[in-house]
Amino acid sequence: MKKISYKINGEVRHLHVEPNDVLLDVLRDKLGLKSPKCGCDRGDCGACAVFLNGKSVRSCLVLAIECDGMEIETVEGIGQNGLSALQEKFIALNSFQCGFCAPGVTISATELLRKNKNPTMDDVKEAISGNLCRCTGYTPIIDAVLQTAEEGDDHGKL
Ligand code: FES
Ligand code: FES
Repeated sequence: MKKISYKINGEVRHLHVEPNDVLLDVLRDKLGLKSPKCGCDRGDCGACAVFLNGKSVRSCLVLAIECDGMEIETVEGIGQNGLSALQEKFIALNSFQCGFCAPGVTISATELLRKNKNPTMDDVKEAISGNLCRCTGYTPIIDAVLQTAEEGDDHGKL
């Protein structure tokens, strides 16, 4: 076991991990952050996406010990001071059905909107292309991202 620390959703957390612990498991089982989901455990589905030092990663492919001292943001962090405009739009448009893919899609789409305030439909499709959704056909997800961008002001919450 090695003692490490993360700044996670704005709070410094100290924890002990084994060298082979995977970040997804540590987030869910040691830190109680259940938004990242295990859909495939091999990098294919995007359900486990989180921000690591501001860039989205698939947490099932990252060793927890590698992230010592890094900043991690999950969907719990995005929503902790009130839902973002994108999250509100996902709700308004019923963008998800079972919701299993929603956290990973939220990370990917938030990353896009943080970088690009005026994305095209192709930009949105590209941004979420690594997120598998078995329920929706993607249209209500894409619509929500585009409408959020069109409506603009996210009060700094993106
Ligand atoms: S659980 Fe990580 S990509 Fe599917
Ligand atoms: S809403 Fe069910 S997998 Fe996307």
